[in-house]
Amino acid sequence: MAIVFNSVDKTYTLTTKNTMYQMKVDECGVLEHTYYGAKMDYMDMHYGVECVYGASFSPNPADYPDEKWAYSYNALHQELSCAGIGDFRLTAMGVRNGDGSFGAEPRFVSANIEKGKYSLSGLPSFYGDDADTLVVTLKDNTNDVYFHLYYGVFEEYDLITRSVVVENKTNCSIKLEKAMTLTLDLPTGSYDMVYFHGRHTRERMLERTSIKHSRISVASMRGASSHMENPFVVVCDKNANEEYGSAWGIGLVYSGNFLISAEKNLQEKTRVVAGINPENFNFEVEPNGKFTCPEVAMVYSDSGFAKMSNSFHKAIRNNLCRGKFKNAMRPVLINNWEGTYFDFNADKLVAMAHEAQKMGVELFVMDDGWFGKRDNDRCALGDWTPNEKKLQGTLSELAQRINNEGMKFGIWFEPECISEDSDLYRAHPDYALAMPNRAPQVSRNQYVLDFSRKDVVDNIYNQLVKVLDSANISYVKWDFNRHITDLYSVALPADKQGEVYHRYMLGLYDLLEKITSKYPDILFESCSGGGGRFDMGMLYYMPQVWTSDNSDAIDRLKIQYGTSFAYPVSTMGAHVSVCPNHQNARVTPLKTRGNVAYFGTYGLELDVTKMTDEEKTEIARQIKEFKKYYELIQRGDYYRLISPFTPDESLYCAWETVKPDGSEALVCAVRYETDACTAPEYVKVKGLCPEKKYRINGGDRVYTGSALMNIGFMLEYDFFSYPSRLYHITLA
Ligand code: GLA
Repeated sequence: MAIVFNSVDKTYTLTTKNTMYQMKVDECGVLEHTYYGAKMDYMDMHYGVECVYGASFSPNPADYPDEKWAYSYNALHQELSCAGIGDFRLTAMGVRNGDGSFGAEPRFVSANIEKGKYSLSGLPSFYGDDADTLVVTLKDNTNDVYFHLYYGVFEEYDLITRSVVVENKTNCSIKLEKAMTLTLDLPTGSYDMVYFHGRHTRERMLERTSIKHSRISVASMRGASSHMENPFVVVCDKNANEEYGSAWGIGLVYSGNFLISAEKNLQEKTRVVAGINPENFNFEVEPNGKFTCPEVAMVYSDSGFAKMSNSFHKAIRNNLCRGKFKNAMRPVLINNWEGTYFDFNADKLVAMAHEAQKMGVELFVMDDGWFGKRDNDRCALGDWTPNEKKLQGTLSELAQRINNEGMKFGIWFEPECISEDSDLYRAHPDYALAMPNRAPQVSRNQYVLDFSRKDVVDNIYNQLVKVLDSANISYVKWDFNRHITDLYSVALPADKQGEVYHRYMLGLYDLLEKITSKYPDILFESCSGGGGRFDMGMLYYMPQVWTSDNSDAIDRLKIQYGTSFAYPVSTMGAHVSVCPNHQNARVTPLKTRGNVAYFGTYGLELDVTKMTDEEKTEIARQIKEFKKYYELIQRGDYYRLISPFTPDESLYCAWETVKPDGSEALVCAVRYETDACTAPEYVKVKGLCPEKKYRINGGDRVYTGSALMNIGFMLEYDFFSYPSRLYHITLA
């Protein structure tokens, strides 16, 4: 059992293959957090977090133990930190009681160890029968407000998940003004935070900063996790790198507003909190009602980022993504967006499918523009009725024509949005989020539907079902092309408007659950103006995400590299597109575009009817090569070898995938900068067996695994812009 209760020490210890997490019920009944780090032999680790020096101006709880003058909520390492009762650090929970007072002092009531992983009502979460669950119930020492702390332990992946369910057993409503899931008090030390910021077409750029005494945060108030920040951070030793040092990966299984914040406090200790962003949030919990906080997923690694990433990759692939596609070979697809934008008809699409099929493409995706009067982005969202003039027949007939070309057929939707110029808006203007007497903000000429309302979600569900039932559809791209403003739902009273953001997410998740379970044979890909909602929440419903609207292979190096810290290659939608590239006008070799897209789902996004014969032959070769390496790439251990964020250190970006037994590896190296009189560059391989012998691309030289890992091999240099190579390393 991965969870052990020690009745003498009153500790609960969670153990995974390489890590350990411990909490202890102290003499006041406070659930103290005593340890999260490398696996060790059991001991009561409380001595490492004891309050022995008084934290200045830190009050004591009324029942603080005799003599323990340093005992204060402001100094204790706690599993659940609450505002209002003398903890002046970052806190997770803010409870406004029925009498208007603000605060709660959670004390231990009971705990339960259960086989299998808990699930969360209405919210995405990791799952698994072979995981274990610990539920610890705490109760405010004054009011009948309960906090059920859920812990999921996935031994094999070193993954620990957490959630909190707040239950109100008082006889009046309470308001949660903050309902963040995670409090993580780290041991004394100095830490960095690695996080992934960006913007549209430039998602998940890696940055690193020290955690000092001022608070640092990554956050979204956009109603979506967003391109600008990702709900995933790594807190690590100051000298941690890919293979060295302590690293705690912390990700939210949530796609809406979030906050991950860290600070060093007056006792020089670091606290991290993570959960729903408390800004413009408050949630009423009625008597006997409950509120469930979104899940937080954590992996600790004692040897740097690579180990942490591989644990997340496996856990996300196997225990977060669901459905028949999660580990299946995904079809190579072509999407017509960059090939045609809105300017197409059925004949054009069929001609593209005809050419693509000859190269080995298996699925044709019809993107935006197939419904209502949608010939541009100013109208028709909300009217999910096929435009039979443009499709030159019914949707079913078009699907049939594509199928006749030997390809599956897929389709684009943007179910959460509505155009002012749409029949749906004309009939139901109140379906869009808008504040009373204030004209709502438009973004990409559209509004956001009020998904906190069941009738609105039902309307969209019925429209989607009608379309999906009408034709042979094998794939859906689910887009969301603006962020939420004008937060106001006509269906809720004034004092409940702070619930709308979260209720929107619950409505969205409910719709996704219904649709994806009704159509288990459809492959769903999530998208939000590219990678604006690339998070663990969406991956529970859809196993792949369009990583970025930026399809330039060189920009993609940074985007895919940053994304890989948390998310596996199998989740990253990656397509070969045309040059000059539509986002940045860069010209790159077709081979480099292919090599970069291999480390994703690989597909095409261009007008294949305009390609030369030479280009078509190259694409056909790439599809064969991608399939040859598919298993290795998608299921191998993934290593970042040379960062694209450090041009002063190297002109290359390189990453690698290696079979877990070390018998085969594939390294992809792309040169993203040029210089004259170039110096030789070597790359060190990872994950091989030191004593075994290997060849690279079947060449004559035989290397030992230890040589390839300690010396590396020289990267070949092709004398043109943006060259790239694959190095296939096999046993000699
Ligand atoms: C978003 C997506 C694109 C494309 C367009 C269509 O920007 O990220 O891939 O689907 O919408 O409008």
